[in-house]
Amino acid sequence: MQVAVFSTKSYDRRFLDAANAAAGQPHALRYLEARLTRDSATLAAGAEAVCAFVNDELDRPALEALASGGTRLVALRSAGFNHVDLAAAASLGLAVARVPAYSPHAVAEHTVALILSLNRKIHRAYARVREGNFALEGLLGFDLRGRTAGIVGAGKIGLAVARIMAGFGCRVLVHDPYPTPELAAIGATVAPLETLLAESDIVSLHCPLTPDTRHLIDHAAIARMKHGVMLINTGRGALVDARALIEGLKTGAIGHLGLDVYEEESDLFFEDLSDQILQDDVFARLLTFPNVLITGHQAFFTAEAMQAIAHTTLENLSSFAATGRPVHAVAPPA
Ligand code: NAI
Repeated sequence: MQVAVFSTKSYDRRFLDAANAAAGQPHALRYLEARLTRDSATLAAGAEAVCAFVNDELDRPALEALASGGTRLVALRSAGFNHVDLAAAASLGLAVARVPAYSPHAVAEHTVALILSLNRKIHRAYARVREGNFALEGLLGFDLRGRTAGIVGAGKIGLAVARIMAGFGCRVLVHDPYPTPELAAIGATVAPLETLLAESDIVSLHCPLTPDTRHLIDHAAIARMKHGVMLINTGRGALVDARALIEGLKTGAIGHLGLDVYEEESDLFFEDLSDQILQDDVFARLLTFPNVLITGHQAFFTAEAMQAIAHTTLENLSSFAATGRPVHAVAPPA
């Protein structure tokens, strides 16, 4: 099958080529560096499938352009599908597939890396020591043991984070409309969001972005949290209101902030913009706080996760070529 692969970097090529070779080269993968948007969709003309990533914009005009170019499958290299207009895809006869799970551990471990780095100020200590500054002022942390970690969304990733935090000796609270039995086995307590926000020293977001969860953490939610709370978001940028975070940081309501995702990240992340002037004033303000640590959507980025993403993407493509249905179809909205 002809496949136009958008938003490609060298690491995507490496892992997709290996998976395609392992399967006997069933697909002709055409790699494009461009992001998939309504303007670039025509680059896929003639390709039966397109392969897209998290910051591609699969709105109705983009999907219409794909469909009229002969595309029948959108194979996402991500678990999240909040960037696809599923109703439009269904009405155009486009199938949408995703990679439902690749390595929840990759994201969970990165989440904990942010927690540990922020707590023990590793980002500051690293820079200080390289400058010959061995002073400890400003580097005071706290023991995780005995603290309360609140996990919002305890699916595959949230559960993995809960397990690690329980291993540190934290009391673990989770909020999830569909809690799984595994949570009890690790000693986590299911709680309403209100309780979780009020009692947690660390709040970590692992629920999907939906209309219900958009700006879940806003001014009101920050006001309900413990003063000086550590907030971590490796879910999706729009789960938090970035302007409210800045206010919370200025008053000390938020004591530490770790982000791997940002609402306006599609203009920034995955590119080297180091010789350009940063135009996003909200993002720029966040970078000025010493107690903020931001990574550019890299939580998924381990060799194991990349192999799994490539393998499942190949499965989706091959199944669609053989049966007209991908293995992991995203159902259109009811
Ligand atoms: P999952 O589907 O296994 O778990 C999501 C959980 O959230 C489910 O248990 C669901 O019941 C729960 N949930 C839904 N609505 C909720 C609400 N209003 N409040 C609390 N919980 C709610 O998904 P998984 O694999 O754990 O991924 C979670 C999210 O992590 C994804 O939706 C994606 O946005 C993000 N992600 C980020 C990555 C990164 O590199 N930073 C990589 C992969 C995923």
